Amino acid sequence: MKDSYGRNINYLRISLTDRCNLRCIYCMPKEGIVKRPYGDLLRFEDILKIIKAAATLGINKIRYTGGEPLIMKDIEYLIRETASIKGITDVAITTNGILLCDMADKLKEAGLKRVNISLDTLKADKYKFITRCGNLDAVLKSIDKCLSIGLTPVKINTVLLKGFNDTEIMDFVEFTKNLPVDIRFIELMPIGEGKKLYENDNLSSEVVLKQIEDNFDVISQPTSKSSTVSLYKVRGYKGNIGFISPMSCKFCKDCNRLRLTSIGDLKPCLHSDKVINLKHCLNDEKLLLEELKRGILGKPEEHNMSSKHKSESKKMMYQIGG
Ligand code: 5AD
Ligand code: SF4
Repeated sequence: MKDSYGRNINYLRISLTDRCNLRCIYCMPKEGIVKRPYGDLLRFEDILKIIKAAATLGINKIRYTGGEPLIMKDIEYLIRETASIKGITDVAITTNGILLCDMADKLKEAGLKRVNISLDTLKADKYKFITRCGNLDAVLKSIDKCLSIGLTPVKINTVLLKGFNDTEIMDFVEFTKNLPVDIRFIELMPIGEGKKLYENDNLSSEVVLKQIEDNFDVISQPTSKSSTVSLYKVRGYKGNIGFISPMSCKFCKDCNRLRLTSIGDLKPCLHSDKVINLKHCLNDEKLLLEELKRGILGKPEEHNMSSKHKSESKKMMYQIGG
């Protein structure tokens, strides 16, 4: 279905939980979060009901996020059911990859098409620092596993922070030499914990691309219209390098997505504080459809984030899932 600005909304991103097995410094507070009781969460049956309704409005692509979606018990059941909904052609997850290696086979068998894995450094000690507890090896094993079973394309999300991992940009580019992965450099956004780091640590994609071009023979790659990425590759390398630039080059005009949080808040825009809670209409199919339509038609034209103007979202990244 088209929104009020003519954008075709076909993509629903669903955060299954705000809990996570990591504590990335730009996302989670050090002391962790106040845990919501599980009873506040949408049940899988509720989520499937929402997806079924959304599919009749033209949603065909689902991505599960978190927090960390793979800590949810029985997620393969959810994926299997999602993949079997009429109209849904693509089921993906965004994960930190810690638990993925052992789960990859059964998730793929359940109908998962692709994964995005968050990975901000290729150095074990730095990984432990930025995630406050994670084991890099587990993530690297997951990447290999996904490639080996064809759970592809594997996309790697790397948030660049000045003075932390900008020294590793060329290493990430080298990572694409022999592996068919997309490394996607993401500009830090001033949302949640990222607000505290933004002023000092943000790096624009333009600067990063220039550095890479100074070192490699970089060629531009085509992308689909609704893609939020500008894509490149080093000539002769297997993988790609992408830039997700929500700050310097917003992609609002091609935005095709809606978001749903784990407690049932439909968010027309990542950075707006407007939400429509869907819990009240889960048992009323007609009303559920009306509320979904209201969400689509309520999508703002664009976000107005900048270094002066932080995100208006009252929710944190771990509640929305990026
Ligand atoms: N700015 C940019 N990206 C962020 N992520 C989490 N918080 C932020 C932020 N403040 C990223 C994670 C993950 C994706 C879901 O969102 O690194 O890859
Ligand atoms: Fe967890 Fe992702 Fe937030 Fe890191 S960025 S703490 S992996 S939700």
